[in-house]
This record gives sequence, C-alpha cells and structure tokens, in this order.
Amino acid sequence: MSRNGQILSNIIATQKVHEQYGGVVPELASRAHMQNIVPVVDAALKKAEVPLKEITAIAFTQSPGLIGSLLVGSQFAKSLALALDIPLIAVHHMQAHVIANLISEPKPDFPFLCLTVSGGHTQIVVCRSATDMDVIGETIDDAAGEAFDKSAKLLGLPYPGGPLIDKYAARGNPDRFRFPEPKVPDLDFSFSGLKTAILYFLQNAGTSQVYREEFLATEEDRQNFIRENLADICASIQHRIISILLSKLKKASLQTGITNICLAGGVSANSGLRKAFEEMGKRYKWRTFIPPFEYCTDNAAMISATGYYKHLAGQHTDLSVSAMARSVW
Ligand code: KG4
Ligand code: ZN
Repeated sequence: MSRNGQILSNIIATQKVHEQYGGVVPELASRAHMQNIVPVVDAALKKAEVPLKEITAIAFTQSPGLIGSLLVGSQFAKSLALALDIPLIAVHHMQAHVIANLISEPKPDFPFLCLTVSGGHTQIVVCRSATDMDVIGETIDDAAGEAFDKSAKLLGLPYPGGPLIDKYAARGNPDRFRFPEPKVPDLDFSFSGLKTAILYFLQNAGTSQVYREEFLATEEDRQNFIRENLADICASIQHRIISILLSKLKKASLQTGITNICLAGGVSANSGLRKAFEEMGKRYKWRTFIPPFEYCTDNAAMISATGYYKHLAGQHTDLSVSAMARSVW
C-alpha cells in the first residue's frame, strides 16, 4: 500500500509449497493465491493503518505471469474496485520492476536506463517518465534468473538456486573456469548456450564444455568434482552471467548517451552483480541506482508505486480488463 508514492506496507506471501518440486507448479501457485489474498490484503491495510473505505484506487498485476495467479489477483482487484467504487489500475509486472527505482531516495533523473533481470525476463529499458518506457534489448532465449536457477539445478542445488550460487560464489575464484560468451547482435541477450556449456562441463567432470562421449565422467566422478569445486564453479558461472549482462548495459549507455542507470528484478539482489555494476558505474561516470533488497525480488510495493504514477496520469482501466499470461509491452 502507498499514499502519494510513499510505501505504507509491503506484505508478501511466500509460497513454500513449490520447493519440493524444484520449480513453481502453476496450479499450486493459483490455489495458494486464493488462500492468501484476503489475509495478505488485510495485513497490508493493518500495517498501513488505513481502513479499507479510505482506499482511493486499486492496482493489480495484469501481465505477464502465470495466468491462474494473475486471474486471482485481477478478479479480486476488480471486485474491490466495484464494491468501493474506486478506479482500477492495470500494472505490467516488468514496468513495476523498473518503477521500484522510484520508490526511495536517491531517485534517478529521466531519462534513465534500467537493466531488469528476473526469473522470466532480461531487458534493457529506456525510461523517459514513470509512464513512458520502451524495451531496447532483451533475451532471445532464457532469462538471467533462469540461467542462475538452471545452473544451480545442474549442480544439484534446490530451487530457486540463484541466491545459493550467489552465496557459494562469494568464496570462489571467478577466473578458475571460463564459460563462453555468446555473440548476440545489438542489445539482446542469450543464456541458453551458457546453460549447455555448463551441462557438458559437468557431464565431463570439468574436462570440457563440448559434448564428447569419450570424456563422459561417471556419476560418482561428477558428484566428487562438484563437491570439491562448488565455490569456484559457482563463482565462474556467476562471473559469466554478470559479464554478459554488463557488457550489453555498457553498450546501451554508449548508444543512447544515457548515464542514469538502474538495476531491477530478482537477480539484482545478486551481490556479485551489484558490486560489478557499481564498479562499472564509477569507471564510466554513471549515476547508478539499485532498489533496496525488498524491492528487487517480486514485491507488492512496486505494483502500488506503479499504480500511483498511472493514477496521476489518469491511466485507469474498466472492469472488462482481463489478465494475460503474455503481454505486449
Ligand atoms: O523478479 P523475481 O523475484 O521474480 C520474477 O519476476 O521472476 O526474480 C526471481 C529470480 C529467480 O530466478 C532467482 O533465482 C533470482 O531472481 N535471484 C537471484 C538472487 N536472488 C534472486 N539470482 C542470483 N542471485 C541472487 N542473490
Ligand atoms: Zn518479477
């Protein structure tokens, strides 16, 4: 919940139910949403010390995402807008990640660039105002968060593996193993080649990143190799993901001449990325911004803040609006 752009509460229900499956199970996610939505809205109102009847507008995530979960949120928001006779505001999840940079001081000046890195997306966005932004580069296959999570899975780590790779990488040597850097034109990204290189590298117990039947290690060799080198493997994977991200961000700044630069999305919680981003900012004289940790991973505050700016711009929607799994930006 927010008042005039100031966050009053940021309540999130974390779904533990998926851990045992190694990834999010869509049907379980929407069922958990149904169970959580009323208690979460209640808790948000209580924490903000605002009674329901004082709410002046309601924002919800329209897209992109898992359709079952989006439907629960959108139907709830529509019902509340109808019952309270207040404006309804549809929010784009990825735009909200960008707007997380406008929640607390210091804030970037417009126009700014934002590298948005999450479990489902990797984008470079040029943001001209809170309600005017465009994607100028994005992944052509896996997202950066997926690259972290899929690598972690290959290493036998639980889901979501990104934070664990971050943790082990802190103790490892990032130059020990060299993973390939993809050649992708313009400002776009690719992570699927890296994933395949890591798969073969582990199958070969570190001897090669190319599939070679004669090198294939036994399961025991593989497990020993991972156990003995986990920190260096994690540091080297993380190093490559970061270099892929930051070389395109540098290119985007040079091409556009924009030097206010932000990070956003779950992967911006990564300590290696944060550090390398700040260092790059110093080298190229950027003003750099990273949202506080709780506004990097998925959160309610960024939806509320985006709702506030859309409300100011009169961007309301009517009750015929529907949630969409995929969306046109
Ligand atoms: O933005 P987000 O919370 O959800 C989506 O919109 O997808 O991003 C989740 C992603 C996951 O892939 C997770 O592994 C990754 O963010 N992540 C991290 C870290 N914390 C979260 N990746 C690397 N290092 C972290 N510390
Ligand atoms: Zn997200």
